[in-house]
Amino acid sequence: MLIKQLNHKKDMIIQSAKFICSNTDYKKPEDRRLEFAFIGRSNVGKSSLINMLAGEKGLAKTSSKPGKTRLINHFLINDSWYLVDLPGYGFAKVSKTMLSEFGKTITDYVEKRSQLTCLFVLIDSRLEPQRIDLNFVRRLGQLGIPFAIVQTKCDKKRAESEKNIELFKQALLTEWEELPPFFITSSEERIGRDELLDYIDDICNKVKIK
Ligand code: GTP
Ligand code: MG
Repeated sequence: MLIKQLNHKKDMIIQSAKFICSNTDYKKPEDRRLEFAFIGRSNVGKSSLINMLAGEKGLAKTSSKPGKTRLINHFLINDSWYLVDLPGYGFAKVSKTMLSEFGKTITDYVEKRSQLTCLFVLIDSRLEPQRIDLNFVRRLGQLGIPFAIVQTKCDKKRAESEKNIELFKQALLTEWEELPPFFITSSEERIGRDELLDYIDDICNKVKIK
């Protein structure tokens, strides 16, 4: 019976996606449900990826200008777990004060939010490995925060993306013995959606069994 069930594992279906709140306080909302958060440089495609996963275009606000998401945004999925949209890091065009506020919001959330179950670190596949991303990933390792890598925008210049992804893996392997979970995505072409949702689903099921 169990084998039959495993063989017929259904893809996760998103039945509902609700915006719950925006804030700068990592303690909010007071809810113990699991959270899956998305982080990465400004403009890397965090909000677009959340919309692609949720299957709702306007759920998280997106923009071609970097610095659009400035707060922690919680979206409740299937009334059971959260997708969390975070401000980007490494965006030089905001004021120094704002930069440090973004920094504090992100750092507090990432380091102190106990509901955070997996942090998806988004990497722009159109760029060669960036020091800021590699440093961020190193820091997560030092802090023992569970994370996975998500390469974004793997669509228009595919060959270039593939080359950059390979370079990024090699850069990680100079510091890590093995690669973290790794996903290739495009929100525009809906690439990687099932893989990411399956990954989240598996974690949710494991936590339930415990
Ligand atoms: P901030 O909130 O400013 O940190 O940005 P973000 O990481 O949330 O990025 P956002 O989702 O707002 O997208 C930034 C830009 O990238 C927009 O112009 C999107 O249309 C574009 N974009 C997002 N995903 C993709 C993708 O899969 N492929 C391509 N080609 N462009 C994308
Ligand atoms: Mg955003």
